[in-house]
Amino acid sequence: MINLGVLVSGGGTNLQSIINACETGILKDKARVAIVISNKSDAYALERAKKHGIDALFVDRKTCADGVAFNERLIAALKERKVDLVCLAGYLLKLEPNFVKAFHRRILNIHPALLPKFGGKGMYGHHVHSAVVAAGEQESGATVHWVDEEYDHGAAIIQGKVPVLAGDTCETLARRVLEVEHRIYPEAILKVITAGFRE
Ligand code: GRF
Repeated sequence: MINLGVLVSGGGTNLQSIINACETGILKDKARVAIVISNKSDAYALERAKKHGIDALFVDRKTCADGVAFNERLIAALKERKVDLVCLAGYLLKLEPNFVKAFHRRILNIHPALLPKFGGKGMYGHHVHSAVVAAGEQESGATVHWVDEEYDHGAAIIQGKVPVLAGDTCETLARRVLEVEHRIYPEAILKVITAGFRE
């Protein structure tokens, strides 16, 4: 059984899809969510974790001397729960190099576009979908990828595509992409576990 640690900053619908996959879906008997950590005290994702009896931890960046010290706190909490694989799910802070080193090849992220397009600094949440609509793209989607020191940079594991429809707004596109996210994140986790964490 693989222990997952999920880092969040917001609503946590991707976290929910991972929890569901562990409890009754494709990750059943293969993975469990050992801990959920948020950098926001009011992230609804923390409530979702508690409802499933999962450890939910808020770590306040403001109480840490700097980003490295904050990341040390995260590393310690994850190691304490013997986390094998870290899943970023709507986590909005950049990981410091000490974190990436501590969980080398053990960190996944989901990005709501078809990387390498529409990735990088500032490309998160509605910014991504607005840029896709503004660029007149015919398709968009989501990418689960390995995490390294650069934003949205590591190799892709799974991509899921959706059409961009005439009249799409940032909101309608985001909704369509989110459905794909919820399907491919558990699939990517399964793929990584099955491959023995090799790229
Ligand atoms: C998702 O679109 C994810 O791709 C992005 O942030 C959003 C988080 O949504 N990184 P949720 O908190 O999982 O509902």
